Amino acid sequence: MTNGYVTNEQLLEQLNWRYAVKRFDASRKISDQDWTTLERALLLAPSSYGLQPWKFYVVTDEVVRKELRAHSYDQPQIEECSHLVVISALKDAGAADIERYLDRIIEVRKTPREELEVLREMMYGSQKAARESGSLNDWSARQCFIALGFLLSAAAMLGIDACPMEGFEAEKYDKSLGIEQDGYFSVVACALGYRDPEEDWLGKLEKVRYEPSEVFKRV
Ligand SMILES: Cc1cc2nc3c(=O)[nH]c(=O)nc-3n(C[C@H](O)[C@H](O)[C@H](O)COP(=O)(O)O)c2cc1C
Repeated sequence: MTNGYVTNEQLLEQLNWRYAVKRFDASRKISDQDWTTLERALLLAPSSYGLQPWKFYVVTDEVVRKELRAHSYDQPQIEECSHLVVISALKDAGAADIERYLDRIIEVRKTPREELEVLREMMYGSQKAARESGSLNDWSARQCFIALGFLLSAAAMLGIDACPMEGFEAEKYDKSLGIEQDGYFSVVACALGYRDPEEDWLGKLEKVRYEPSEVFKRV
């Protein structure tokens, strides 16, 4: 059955095709057109209230990538991939971030400011509650994983390989890429490019997932 966009089979085929690639073919680069589409997918990721408390650092510079590999337990994906994205969360979000977002809604939708008062109150309330419970930065970091999911799915749909990566020393990344200076902190990275079928033994292995009956509970 088709939903008018991709077929159910196509969707599952691509999601089965993707796996966390360990070895990329360093000679293959993602085209500008595909890369622009992937950046667009990142931009379109949803976030709580739409606040987008993130910044995406796209790293292609070879020297910087060599340095980052050393901060990533020597994982080869960091240097061998075509593009590396470091998804970073806004640190200690505050009133100015809410006001910035409201300004953006007004700019894009031409909404009269007074119509946004209820949303404004809600966002201030949520931010205050998160701050008081000590979970403000976690809240922002959680949004980053939604962006990661969008990026991984979008890449799979385009036949582009990826490896989501948490295996790095975040504080070193924050210094190397100026993330800390920008008021953000790195949460998760994603290496993207094309698999090296010769070198990557993992690609030949079965996916390990629990049985649906263990994972889904129907109410
Ligand atoms: C948040 C996150 C962090 C991960 N970090 C790493 C990593 O640092 N290095 C790596 O090789 N794989 C990493 N992985 C890949 C997982 O090991 C992999 O997704 C998982 O074993 C499932 O396999 P599959 O993605 O190939 O289906 C990470 C995955 C996620 C979602």
